[in-house]
Amino acid sequence: MQAAARAHANIALIKYWGKRDSALNLPATGSISVTLDALHSETRVCFDPGLATDQVALESGGDPDRVSTFLDRVRALAGIDTRADVRSRNNFPTGAGLASSASGFAALALAACRAAGIDPSPAELSALARQGSGSAARSLYGGFVEMQRGRDDRTGADAHAVPLLAAPEWPLAVVVAIIDTGTKAIGSTEGMTRTAASSPFFDAWVSGAEADLTAMRTAIEARDFERVGELTEHSCLKMHATMLGARPGLIYWQPATLAVWQTLADLRAGGLAVYGTIDAGPQVKALCHAGDGDDLAMALSAIPGVRGVRISGLGPDAHLIAD
Ligand code: DP6
Repeated sequence: MQAAARAHANIALIKYWGKRDSALNLPATGSISVTLDALHSETRVCFDPGLATDQVALESGGDPDRVSTFLDRVRALAGIDTRADVRSRNNFPTGAGLASSASGFAALALAACRAAGIDPSPAELSALARQGSGSAARSLYGGFVEMQRGRDDRTGADAHAVPLLAAPEWPLAVVVAIIDTGTKAIGSTEGMTRTAASSPFFDAWVSGAEADLTAMRTAIEARDFERVGELTEHSCLKMHATMLGARPGLIYWQPATLAVWQTLADLRAGGLAVYGTIDAGPQVKALCHAGDGDDLAMALSAIPGVRGVRISGLGPDAHLIAD
């Protein structure tokens, strides 16, 4: 009744921002991400008949109630009622736009299913992780990953991720410029709800997604780095424009966020192949060829307001580890 798993964080290149159903956590659009080698969550789950309530210790922060609600889904699937002891830690700051819920719920889904004695298919596991956090569905896979929007609004069974390209097939790096590791004021879930309810740009954001996804799939298949980068920046800026249109508007950027963004444009003008993206927080994630990671990290760490950098290659699938 015990298992442990490691899952890696992911960064969306084509963004997920908005739901079509909040009970099943069904996304309004698909999304495409890369999984990061250097950032991960490790989670150990032990179902213990002696426990009266779930005992959840999230060393790097997070919401224990959300974990317990997720365990209820696993218990329902396994036909058990046993409470669990859960321990989880990340090797990076939680709640700062570094996608900790993605790696966290992916690791939890894998460890909890194994500990509960059930063996869902990869698609079922990804759809289960989605119910913890939409981006978690993508962290079950390494390399380039697509989250499918799905059509089945009744069960949500087809809203799961699929792998597009394994990490070794295209050696890229992501440099994360860390600007502020404090917890963000408005979490993704609340931010999405507000945007969908009040931004006049939301419908256009949703209706443009299919074309962006198709173009990105083609660019990845062709290993066309410039095209992948251009589409990545477009999806990021379009998502933030949609958020800015909410009432009240959502501004996740800080002055240093824009300084890093401008530096990426300058580096590109100087011949370095690099493109950026920003999630629901101030950090900037820059995508480059694997061999350019160190130089890029050096350039970004010299920008005032950048508190640190993390360099990562593309990472593997989520997997069980020794508990
Ligand atoms: C901006 O997956 O955290 O990082 O499903 O409500 O848990 P919930 O949202 P979450 O949202 C991620 C939003 C994003 C873009 C992305 O990762 O696609």
